[in-house]
Amino acid sequence: MAHEALIELDGVRAGYGEAVVLDGISFALPAGGSLAVLGRNGVGKTTLLLTIMGFVDLMQGAIRLAGRDVSRLAPHRRARAGLGWVPQERDIFPSLDVEENLTATARPGRWDLQAVYRLFPRLRERRANMGSQLSGGEQQMLAIARTLMTNPTLLILDEPLEGLAPIIVEELTATIRTMARDEGMAMILVEQHAEVALRLTDEAIVIERGVIAHRARSAELLRDAATLDRYVGLNLQAAEP
Ligand SMILES: Nc1ncnc2c1ncn2[C@@H]1O[C@H](COP(=O)(O)OP(=O)(O)OP(=O)(O)O)[C@@H](O)[C@H]1O
Ligand SMILES: [Mg+2]
Repeated sequence: MAHEALIELDGVRAGYGEAVVLDGISFALPAGGSLAVLGRNGVGKTTLLLTIMGFVDLMQGAIRLAGRDVSRLAPHRRARAGLGWVPQERDIFPSLDVEENLTATARPGRWDLQAVYRLFPRLRERRANMGSQLSGGEQQMLAIARTLMTNPTLLILDEPLEGLAPIIVEELTATIRTMARDEGMAMILVEQHAEVALRLTDEAIVIERGVIAHRARSAELLRDAATLDRYVGLNLQAAEP
């Protein structure tokens, strides 16, 4: 099983100082697979991603990438091992133009300038604009495209749609779907919009009180209104007025 999994978490405990936020988190994702991480505010979704990336210390358990234990690697070495992190803050370079942002951290592979411009035509149009001149939606596209240019085996997204205008949410959702479904880009997606996240992914986990309280195929959870309402009620109501 460990050999087939692209990423595998095994009994992960993590938190801050004395405070344990996550305890006993285990899941495996196959190559090309996609996982939605759901849960109410403050349950530890971001902490889970930060732990995978190595920004939060692992207290117990293991994280394996293609069978290799990366639990003790520094974040930049995990990135080199294939983890592509798109932080919630986007962190684009404001004084570089779009194309410079894209190439600054690029590594060779299938995702080159042409490929990301095909996926994000808006970025091609804005290629000569400074990072600081972009709208929030364009900055988010740039943040994702820049991470793609590092040619990761797994893309890790923390609320990529947060704070964006509805029309941009629609455009970006379509792009993420193309990436995951057509291009087979493996992905872990944290998203407040549960419905959107479930439409974009194969599998889902719901975190509550530090553990995985529920796991399901995304398509099944999408039809299971009672379970969705129990765990992420507010988001569902927001999506269905
Ligand atoms: N740097 C930190 N130091 C101490 N505690 C933290 C730190 N960051 C987060 N926490 C705490 O860890 C818990 C989980 O936070 P986290 O940000 O992972 O939740 P989340 O599910 O991503 O929430 P949200 O839906 O609001 O994004 C919270 O109780 C939070 O207060
Ligand atoms: Mg968060």
